Amino acid sequence: MTKYPELKDFPGGGEVTVYPSVLQAGTLVMPGDKSISHRTAILSALGKGTSTISGYLHSEDCLNTLRAMEMLGAQVNFGEGELIRITGTAGTLHAPEGVLNLGNSGTGMRLLAGLLAGQPFDTVLTGDSSLCSRPMGRIKAPLEGMGCLISLSEKGCAPMTIHAAKLHGIDYIMPVASAQIKSAILLGGLFADGEISVTDPGLSRDHTECLFQELGIPLTVEGHVVRMTGCGARGPVIEQKHWNVPGDISSAAFFAVAAAISGHAAVTISNVGLNPRRDAVLHVLERMGAKIERVFSNQIGEPAGDVHITGAALHGTTVGGAEIPALIDEIPVIAVAAACASGDTIIRDAKELRVKESDRISLMVKNLRMIGVDVDEQGDGMIIHGRPQRGLVPSGSVDSEGDHRIAMSMAILALQAEQPVVIKNALCTATSYPGFWDDLRLLGVRIDERN
Ligand code: S3P
Repeated sequence: MTKYPELKDFPGGGEVTVYPSVLQAGTLVMPGDKSISHRTAILSALGKGTSTISGYLHSEDCLNTLRAMEMLGAQVNFGEGELIRITGTAGTLHAPEGVLNLGNSGTGMRLLAGLLAGQPFDTVLTGDSSLCSRPMGRIKAPLEGMGCLISLSEKGCAPMTIHAAKLHGIDYIMPVASAQIKSAILLGGLFADGEISVTDPGLSRDHTECLFQELGIPLTVEGHVVRMTGCGARGPVIEQKHWNVPGDISSAAFFAVAAAISGHAAVTISNVGLNPRRDAVLHVLERMGAKIERVFSNQIGEPAGDVHITGAALHGTTVGGAEIPALIDEIPVIAVAAACASGDTIIRDAKELRVKESDRISLMVKNLRMIGVDVDEQGDGMIIHGRPQRGLVPSGSVDSEGDHRIAMSMAILALQAEQPVVIKNALCTATSYPGFWDDLRLLGVRIDERN
């Protein structure tokens, strides 16, 4: 199956040198939203007939989910441009031949675990070294509470075996605000009998709820509580559908920060998702002094629009509490904005960062220090002592250790350095944003890539 990425044990490799650059004004079109892409692939594969998805993210994570859905019986065709056609299984997934490998994707693995928990066959899920060290007990607990049996490694990680089961309802209070846990339970609900309720201690992203409601799956949301009626062991009836995936605000965040710290450049990011559970990075940059204008274009389904960001002299802020779930993936690049702002920025209540593709608190602190940023590591975040003058570093080399968001964050910080910055393991950007380096070049940044 050559249309899918090669499966590697380590998500890194490659080296990129980013030269300090004066960012040029420009407009960028973001690749599709990663979270929504995974979900539209799964729901189309469950549907009747042929669904189409425009704007699907062609990144390694999302392609790995498509491969898994093909192994479960769907047919995937890549059409003109970014269009994808998925002929679904009408609710009857097939037992896969072999192990489903989700690569680097925690979302792919956790969502599929929910989907597969109520199937009449066993499945084994695995991934790369990063994914196989992330906690899976957090989905095992509620899914087993719904009646299935899941085996994990001794450390509570993948490879994961999901044993055939019949599911029933559950009232579940999540220990952490996590859209992946919530979505695993709701996808399990598609093949469960009875009532399901999930209480979220925060307000994590709600794409699964929005898409279920669009498909007419019985689900209600009241504040922090999501309730649905299980569709029973035969699964849901999902009609074929056309999905439009907006651009990913988590990818846009890199360029929003690049513009904000440039002090002057105006960058427009077009057709980006502006779901209020995802857009807190824009509020933080505004609080720090950047000028941001949003022009909404889509009032149906997921909110989306164009975002114009103009740089300014930034100042420090505090990021924490209820806003954390709405910017969890953007914290590394917010730390970059903080490094270029005057005064201190405190990031707290973000312990979840320690179980992402890497321990993003310690790795970000390590890399920031490598290029001269003054930062204190905290258990649940960090304190960055900003230094607004250009020229943070005489020269330097950093290492993403295979974490795509760390690689991209350090590339943005390199724009403000005095000398070129070498980023090791930089090509993991293909996980979520394959065109990242080309988009940086579009804004006038000089880059040398070495495989
Ligand atoms: C995601 C949820 C978030 C996020 C991840 C994508 C999703 O994880 O970090 O990149 O699509 O549901 P948690 O909800 O587990 O924090």
